Amino acid sequence: MMKKETVLVVKEKLAVAESSLIERDGHAILDQFGRTFDYLRIAVNEKCNLRCIYCMPEEGVDFTPDENLLKADEIIRIINIVAKFGVKKLRFTGGEPLLNKDIVYLISNSVIVPGIESVHLTTNGLLLEKYAVDLSEAGLHGINISLDTLNHQKFYEITRRDKLDLVLDALQIALKLPFNSVKINVVVMRNFNHTEIGDFVELTKDNLLTVRFIELMPFDAHQIWRTGKFFGADKIVEELKTIYLNLTQISGSSTEHYVYQLPGYKGKFGVIPSFTRNICQNCNRIRLTADGKIRNCLYSDHEFNLRKLIRDGCSDEEIGKLFKNAMWQKLKDGYEAQNHSDHHRESMTQIGG
Ligand code: GTP
Ligand code: 5AD
Ligand code: SF4
Repeated sequence: MMKKETVLVVKEKLAVAESSLIERDGHAILDQFGRTFDYLRIAVNEKCNLRCIYCMPEEGVDFTPDENLLKADEIIRIINIVAKFGVKKLRFTGGEPLLNKDIVYLISNSVIVPGIESVHLTTNGLLLEKYAVDLSEAGLHGINISLDTLNHQKFYEITRRDKLDLVLDALQIALKLPFNSVKINVVVMRNFNHTEIGDFVELTKDNLLTVRFIELMPFDAHQIWRTGKFFGADKIVEELKTIYLNLTQISGSSTEHYVYQLPGYKGKFGVIPSFTRNICQNCNRIRLTADGKIRNCLYSDHEFNLRKLIRDGCSDEEIGKLFKNAMWQKLKDGYEAQNHSDHHRESMTQIGG
């Protein structure tokens, strides 16, 4: 039960939010802490063609049956609606989004939605060689490739597949195409790949590339997270400063808490404190799971069933309202969200990264 004063404050804030007509045709998607949400991350698949140890067991997880995953045209309808409420940036994730046969259709039909300024993809790169030109021609703005090691044996240990060369080739192809941004995501693990931080930074010397070092998060069924592999953002920064004395700090995207560049290097590199969570005050993201649930925080298990609403034949207005309602209920930060959650999904593939 909320206290009377709290209810009044919330109502007052709601009134302010409702009265300050913001973006284009409608009201922006806001929360009670003054944040505005203009970035929608859409998981378009739960399945993956790798089995990263921090994500999924070899046998996979309990994947949602296909009929309960959102269809491409449902996703395009949702994008058209949220764009009217100020969403400007989209990211397709998964699972592996390139395993969704409609991915090129999704991209070409979302870049043309009025209000959408950029469309991005987070992929493991295995199928990128096959799709890269089509994705570029469809109008994709940016690609983030997950790559945790440059060593063949370690790549096999982490992903349980011997496919490093495929990802490295895909990276070269992506760099040659006219994407606005190409990034590599490196989940850093103690005594596994933390010794490769410098090797990854060196990739930014001759390539217009951003490398992001990411903290390991506790979202996997068998909790590899508990095995002492966590290597925090502060340690990553310390390691960077030990290797390089001439780091220049620059700014980056909302997850990139620290971003650096070296003199004469074409690219940049940053750190994402995904577990430490000192990025929450700038959070601008809404998540849509592959099975059609809105999540207002990566660490929250409170989901809003958009798929059911859509399949019950709701109006566009009702869809807009569900997004606003879901985000209005967002808690202050990822710690609070975690404290209020008790059932976590088995794997990051079900959340969408
Ligand atoms: P940019 O738009 O290029 O900045 O990408 P992004 O960081 O939004 O997306 P990406 O899919 O590449 O995510 C990389 C990693 O950032 C994820 O694996 C998470 O570890 C972390 N991350 C993304 N979004 C959030 C978030 O909202 N909260 C937290 N705590 N971590 C996040
Ligand atoms: N901790 C941190 N990052 C993770 N990812 C998947 N599972 C985890 C985890 N437990 C990352 C992938 C990819 C992004 C989409 O999510 O490496 O870069
Ligand atoms: Fe946003 Fe939650 Fe991530 Fe913090 S932990 S940045 S609030 S999604």
